[in-house]
Amino acid sequence: MLQVVCKKDYEEASRAAADLIAAQILLKPDCKIGLATGSTPVGAYAELVRKYEAGELDFSKVTTANLDEYKGLPGTHDQSYRYFMDSNLFDHVNIDKSRTFVPNGVEEDAVKACKDYDELLDREIGAFDIQLLGIGGDGHIGFNEPADAFCVNTQCIKLEEQTIRDNARLFFNGNLDEVPKEAYTMGIGFIMRSRKILIMATGPKKRDIVEKAFCGPVTPWVPASILQLHPDVVLLGDEAAISEKVRALGK
Ligand code: GLP
Repeated sequence: MLQVVCKKDYEEASRAAADLIAAQILLKPDCKIGLATGSTPVGAYAELVRKYEAGELDFSKVTTANLDEYKGLPGTHDQSYRYFMDSNLFDHVNIDKSRTFVPNGVEEDAVKACKDYDELLDREIGAFDIQLLGIGGDGHIGFNEPADAFCVNTQCIKLEEQTIRDNARLFFNGNLDEVPKEAYTMGIGFIMRSRKILIMATGPKKRDIVEKAFCGPVTPWVPASILQLHPDVVLLGDEAAISEKVRALGK
């Protein structure tokens, strides 16, 4: 079932996303959460930190795994996704960092890196209780780019030009040449295994792709469209990103 939640703006959407994740932790303190990077979830992470500081949340038994990591970047690199997670969330709450997983960007052997992450996900997670997602401008989830088939397992992906450009905004001070051209990403199979999926989309730039993903055909050329087949999806966004047509789906 798809639930569409359309908030007035980014701040309200961020608070609503944090409320949902917090509810999951309250319901099951030792829950498993799939996490995403990008600019979209930053506000939700800040709100989770606020809830923790206010004594409303306990992360001590939570396990997390992230969708993706740039190939070639160590977790200490300030543009890596491990660093992003530490600085936006993990360093500010009482999570056990040994229970937070991110693909190993410095493993040069791509086959090994992907196999290792899939084994880790099977062993430590099994299936997420909730998976947080953003959506790329071309419909990618994690770093699963448009392709002629949905990729089931963790893969090493060659990033699309649009993705490199979009991410240069947030990473590498806009310097295109410095953005890594490859990344490791959790496959769509593991994302779909999650019991619940929370996908966030905010801002006018996401409006068309959100409509394509949720109102168009299910196709690997719009990877997020596969979420139409998942039994429990919350699409949470703001008025700029969620068109009337998309809003009508969730009513
Ligand atoms: C990157 C991440 C995705 C994220 C996407 C959108 O490609 N790998 O997980 O959803 O960016 O980013 P933003 O939220 O900045 O628009």
